[in-house]
Amino acid sequence: MNKLPPLRALRHAASLPLDDFRLAMRRLVGAVSIVTTLDGETPAGLTATAVTSFSAEPARLLACINLKGTTFRAIAESRRMAINLLAHQHESLAKQFGGAPVSHEERFGMAQWGTLTTGAPVLRDAMAVFDCVVDEMMVAHSHAVIIGEIKAVLLSPRNDEPLLYADGQFTTLHRAGEMVTG
Ligand SMILES: Cc1cc2nc3c(=O)[nH]c(=O)nc-3n(C[C@H](O)[C@H](O)[C@H](O)COP(=O)(O)O)c2cc1C
Repeated sequence: MNKLPPLRALRHAASLPLDDFRLAMRRLVGAVSIVTTLDGETPAGLTATAVTSFSAEPARLLACINLKGTTFRAIAESRRMAINLLAHQHESLAKQFGGAPVSHEERFGMAQWGTLTTGAPVLRDAMAVFDCVVDEMMVAHSHAVIIGEIKAVLLSPRNDEPLLYADGQFTTLHRAGEMVTG
């Protein structure tokens, strides 16, 4: 087995002004979702990569959401959220929901939305949507781990390529493979 170079050497070689944790995290390739909810009657949502499956029976997933944002407060109050899995054509949408805070019109006006069971906004051409009510919420440091109880699922009939985030940029399976293998 090839020995990995020590982290300090990697840092030096890359000459990036990032600490070791952030540098290593750039190699964690993530699927990109938009987590949506309702702030009263108003839609709210953000781009997230910290979303993963939790259990199949019962059907649960989890999302880690920053406490500082408007989306966290709205999820905590409404107790509902939809996880919209993005495809490669949603890159500009992911940037809009993941950049500096802008009005909900500027975020949601970029695409077509509907609802399933909970009333949380559902992206009509998402690869898949998990419509959830909040089952459990654990606050730790800057974030909350939110476990969603899945009430409905929407599956796209199309065979889109997923949108990924790796090495600080949006990418696709094909391009991420090239990046990781060099
Ligand atoms: C690729 C990417 C992934 C992100 N992942 C998360 C995440 O998992 N959890 C989170 O709370 N914020 C995440 N963010 C940051 C939020 O999307 C961003 O801070 C957003 O503007 C917050 O919106 P809000 O203040 O309206 O809630 C991510 C941003 C990007 C660009």
